[in-house]
Amino acid sequence: MKNIVILISGTGSNMSAIVQRAKTQNWQARFNARVALVLSSTPNAKGLVWAKEHGLPAQVVDHRAFKEAPNPRSAFEAQLIQAIDPLEPHLVVLAGFMRILSPETTRHYEGRMMNIHPSLLPAFTGLNTHQRALDAGCKFAGATVHWVSEELDAGNIIDQAVVPILQTDDEHSLALRVLRAEHQLYPRVIEEHLKR
Ligand code: GAR
Repeated sequence: MKNIVILISGTGSNMSAIVQRAKTQNWQARFNARVALVLSSTPNAKGLVWAKEHGLPAQVVDHRAFKEAPNPRSAFEAQLIQAIDPLEPHLVVLAGFMRILSPETTRHYEGRMMNIHPSLLPAFTGLNTHQRALDAGCKFAGATVHWVSEELDAGNIIDQAVVPILQTDDEHSLALRVLRAEHQLYPRVIEEHLKR
């Protein structure tokens, strides 16, 4: 079985788009693949509720629980790895996962960890991508699915979706248009990967 583990931190709309595609396109029968676990870095992520309601194994590794550890990030990531690795994941999917992972962890999952980023990389790595695209006067925005590497938002690009920026756009209207495109892009990219 090809196990897919999805990491979230918030709404989880990309996660639910992937889960729905897995169901409608019958990934289990066609690719012997399933979403085996949804992991959240915060206990109050909306996506957790959705995952549980849809019968998915869902777990929290709360990044704040490691605040007092000598090295909070490595303690948090050790716990994440402990939750993920028993499943021997074929793919670890970052879907709105808002923690920056250390080089040790990205190396550990090299070639098996994808991320979706809300910009047309290599433009606008990091945060506030939509406002920065508007401020720069861009005519197009979009989303990128890429392999995760040691450097933030800089791994090999797998695919992108492009949307227009309208004169009337603000950060929120643009974010919504990009997010809708993400919901098409990410499940399709994962499905293409499973076909290989
Ligand atoms: C998405 O727009 C995703 O691209 C972005 O967070 C949103 C999560 O939405 N990810 C990042 O900014 C990662 N740096 P979702 O929780 O509804 O899927």
